[in-house]
Amino acid sequence: MRMVDIIDKKRNGGELTKEEIQTFVDGVVSGEIPDYQTSAFLMATYFKDMTDAERSELTMAMMKSGDHLDLSSIDGIKVDKHSTGGVGDKTSIPLAPIVAALGIPVPMISGRGLGHTGGTLDKLEAIPGYQVEISEADFIKQVQNEGLAIVGATGNIAPADKKIYALRDVTDTVDSIPLIASSIMSKKIASGTDALVIDVKTGSGAFMKTLDDSRELAKALVGIGKGVGMNCMAIISDMNQPLGNAIGNALEIKESIDLLKGEAPADITDLVLTLGSYMVVMSGKTDSMAEARKMCEGTITDGSALKKFGDMVAAQGGDRSVVDHPEIMPQAKYKIPLPAKTAGVVSRVEADEMGVASMLLGGGRQKADDKLDYAVGIMMSKKVGDKVAAGDSLLTIYSDRENVDDIKDLLYANIEISDSAEPLTLIHETVR
Ligand code: URA
Repeated sequence: MRMVDIIDKKRNGGELTKEEIQTFVDGVVSGEIPDYQTSAFLMATYFKDMTDAERSELTMAMMKSGDHLDLSSIDGIKVDKHSTGGVGDKTSIPLAPIVAALGIPVPMISGRGLGHTGGTLDKLEAIPGYQVEISEADFIKQVQNEGLAIVGATGNIAPADKKIYALRDVTDTVDSIPLIASSIMSKKIASGTDALVIDVKTGSGAFMKTLDDSRELAKALVGIGKGVGMNCMAIISDMNQPLGNAIGNALEIKESIDLLKGEAPADITDLVLTLGSYMVVMSGKTDSMAEARKMCEGTITDGSALKKFGDMVAAQGGDRSVVDHPEIMPQAKYKIPLPAKTAGVVSRVEADEMGVASMLLGGGRQKADDKLDYAVGIMMSKKVGDKVAAGDSLLTIYSDRENVDDIKDLLYANIEISDSAEPLTLIHETVR
């Protein structure tokens, strides 16, 4: 079977067979298929989509390309959460300790930044010493001992995804339903979790810009999970403006710690508590969402979630003093405010362009091998619906270079001040 014929079939809108999909995945992993053919296949898939059967076959082939973790030695129902990616979306970082503080094991496998979106692993690496790459045995041991771990897909989990993910990022083929669904679900099935809540983002800062596309992605993800017997559900949450105030690696860790102290903005706190409540219900601890939410809130007020976060950081080699001293993380040289040019109400904050601005400051990658500057990013002071007077700071740019005129232009072009604003809905719907 020649790869060029498989590309040709997909390019012309044909439905690939199981064998053809297997040939593609095997060739990617062995290195027999060169990057230019993989890229062509990804672009053909981007434009021609895949049927449900193809999506499942691609997921399973990617999942079987590596190891399948056996988490059976960890007691209890293991619950994980995954996001399809957003701007300022640091949800996993406070969520895992909140749920783990309730005695529910959280073996979380996360990813790096993709396109304009940040990645949980990149953010955690802003903490001095934090190791995201640990062996499977250590991952399991840590979940047994501490109740949680947030790591990268260890050594051989879905190796096909590692190669495809990196190529998608640089060939502009990220925002494709079959490619996102197979990427997420291959890793989640291989990671052996019992239950999974997926946070599908929708809006300008998400890969899926419309509610219809987000719903289709959510259904694809949940369908694949249920197809292999996983207890799986999705929520569709808003990404029309950044989540919380912080965008950038160290800034987002600080905001996550603030959340665990009960001091974070309302939107990110609400989303974390909602996702946490679903995870608690899926663990079987209660069947009441209201009770689950109270339990999650309790871990913040009694300090147990913050302690759990410190335990996780220490177990993964990080400096737990970050909890009280976030200034041990890299700090930006310059903090530059962006004053409002006119008075009014903030009516639009383009989340994707805020993500691009943070990336251009050095907080994200433009090329796959770019080194990150953990200190830089943006702190929003005003969000959609907030009143502003001319001269009020809309946000602060955290930068290691003094001249940020290019970033200011980009930000001004993507924040709108009008007479009034349409309120944004944080959580649109659930898909089961
Ligand atoms: N997260 C993933 O793991 N893969 C994607 O394709 C998008 C978000």
